[in-house]
Amino acid sequence: MTFPRTRLRRLRKNQAIRDMVEETILRPADLVMPLFACPGEGVKNPIKSMPGNYQLSVDMMVKTCEELYAKGVRSILLFGIPEKKDEHGLVATHDDAIVQRAIKAIKEKVPELYIIADVCNCEYTTHGHCGTIVDGDVHNDKTLETLSKQAISFARVGADMVAPSDMMDGRVGHMRDTLDEAGYYNMPIMSYSAKYASAFYGPFRDAAESAPQFGNRDTYQMNPPNSDEAMREIELDLQEGADIVMVKPALSYLDVIRRTKDTFNTPIAAYNVSGEFSMVKAAAEKGWIDEERIVKELLTSIKRAGADIILSYHTQEIVDKL
Ligand code: PBG
Repeated sequence: MTFPRTRLRRLRKNQAIRDMVEETILRPADLVMPLFACPGEGVKNPIKSMPGNYQLSVDMMVKTCEELYAKGVRSILLFGIPEKKDEHGLVATHDDAIVQRAIKAIKEKVPELYIIADVCNCEYTTHGHCGTIVDGDVHNDKTLETLSKQAISFARVGADMVAPSDMMDGRVGHMRDTLDEAGYYNMPIMSYSAKYASAFYGPFRDAAESAPQFGNRDTYQMNPPNSDEAMREIELDLQEGADIVMVKPALSYLDVIRRTKDTFNTPIAAYNVSGEFSMVKAAAEKGWIDEERIVKELLTSIKRAGADIILSYHTQEIVDKL
């Protein structure tokens, strides 16, 4: 049937009918808030390039988590800034490392808050790369060892989920086996499966003090023009035992999210990364955009593309406005 019998405007007449036929509904439960743990006490150090975000000492992070939970945030993703860094990121593999201490403290005060621990070495190495350097490049198989050590420590101190973000080949399988052998067969793995070598991570690297000291991440993160390759990464991660696969960044890769949704019958996460966040904040500060409407539209577009879980720095400000 065509016009004049068909008129799509009939179902746009007022809010009630528009709501009834709404296809994509963003919920607080879809959102994950990333947080940065740092040493010290009473520290709430603003991250300049990410307004409203802070490096938080463990005590301040617990306070923040109580506030976030009261607002409706149900899940956080943790990163750490350590006291000291080393060649291999071994500082992050001990049960009293910065993120581990944060996990224990949060679980004591806000046990219901779901804690996802990001697993990577870049915040913990002196050179800022995601693994052990051999001959000027990150050595894949040596790095698997430190990553799995870090993951198992997170499991021991009570993380609810681990999320490897390093892009080494075979890390999901290695981590799955290591966790299973230690009895943590119920610990879910959310893999940053299709993680691109993106310019959108700039502000995060200020926040986490994790910028590479030489070169870039092009030998391990994916080349932005590739989408077939993303499907291969995701397929391998699922075969290796990933419970959730992630596409990152989100907004310039909505096509990859949709393709993942259409190809694999599996939960999908998407990371609305720091650069995407900061661009919105900068435009809002200038008064050029309506921030709340823009954020809702952006996050809804990520969900409409096929993501089930959205990791976003906007979470804390938008969760109680949905
Ligand atoms: C660590 C990691 C990064 C991000 C999440 N985990 C940075 C990177 O790969 O350099 C980026 C997150 C963001 O930009 O918000 N490997």
